[in-house]
Amino acid sequence: MNIRSDIRFVGVVEIISEKNDRDIILSQISKFLRESVPYYDWVGFYIMDERKNELVLGPYSGAHTDHTCIPVGKGVCGQVAQNKQTMIVQDVSKMENYLSCSIDVQSEIVVPIMKNGKFVAELDIDSHSSAPFTDADSNLLEAICAELSKIF
Ligand code: SME
Repeated sequence: MNIRSDIRFVGVVEIISEKNDRDIILSQISKFLRESVPYYDWVGFYIMDERKNELVLGPYSGAHTDHTCIPVGKGVCGQVAQNKQTMIVQDVSKMENYLSCSIDVQSEIVVPIMKNGKFVAELDIDSHSSAPFTDADSNLLEAICAELSKIF
């Protein structure tokens, strides 16, 4: 299926087109994606702070997390900030460089948001299901992150 006609992609484009502040857009998208996909249990954004070389928690939908600042290289999020490539962890218990948010989380996908070749933020999704993520998720989320690059 063409991603551009996927209801989730269309929904994200609609949210962006309303031209609200960036945090409002990111908050609405977090909520929308979490409600649209049954195995997306926590959806949120980390924003790159270049000066401190760390990620700062942005808008999210889901349980509270203690990980409000993550150094580049640390955890799944920090590794994506370093490598600038989508990362899927189907079983977080097998991952050494991992920052746990809750014992309910079994798997995670993190997708970088790039602006003019530079890493600016990332979309982080946790799941309470085991190994739910497929290429369909990474393709969709990468297309969404390419759209989101416009608001950075
Ligand atoms: N699990 C992430 C930390 C962020 S939370 O999932 C919200 C990691 O290992 O980087």
